[in-house]
Amino acid sequence: MKKPIFLRKGEIEMSGLKEHIFLIGFMGAGKTSTSRALSHMLGVKETDTDAMIVEKEGCQISVIFEKKGEEYFRNLETGILDDIKIMEPCIISCGGGMVLREENVLKMKEMGKILFLSATPETIYTHVKDSLSRPLLNGNMNIPYIKKLMDERVPKYLAASDAVIVTDGLDPKGVAAKIAGTYLKNI
Ligand code: S3P
Repeated sequence: MKKPIFLRKGEIEMSGLKEHIFLIGFMGAGKTSTSRALSHMLGVKETDTDAMIVEKEGCQISVIFEKKGEEYFRNLETGILDDIKIMEPCIISCGGGMVLREENVLKMKEMGKILFLSATPETIYTHVKDSLSRPLLNGNMNIPYIKKLMDERVPKYLAASDAVIVTDGLDPKGVAAKIAGTYLKNI
């Protein structure tokens, strides 16, 4: 197991996680790339709820939305949390809508810590503007729409989270280092 390189002598040496770490936040906040960077930094496994759904269903998220609808996708999302429950503690990047169901939040809280990666609508827009794989933004790829959806969602992200990590201006390695250096060393 790799040790994190940024901890000073005498600080906690992580040798695995005691419980899951869920990364939540809006589409394009950098959850997946941060999860990978954090996984590399800490030497622990990571997974992604969207990727798990794609593997289980054998088709892309946009196709699931198109053919089966959002409600079907949300049911899959809730079901994935049961698969995660039986996994070794790891880092989990969640789809941006995971917090929409209270039951999902309760399940995540039972399994570990929840970190909210926050970003401004402008930052989000720069990350998602060329994306064709986010059905909720199809035809709505603009800052006012992102802001509107974020205003509805941010209270849910805040209510669910154990900590908020402001990511604007940071790359995934920077966000991972911030998480590890400011948050994880205290748990
Ligand atoms: C969604 C976010 C997406 C994906 C789906 C719905 C949402 O994941 O789960 O398109 O409702 O915010 P990312 O947050 O990884 O883009």
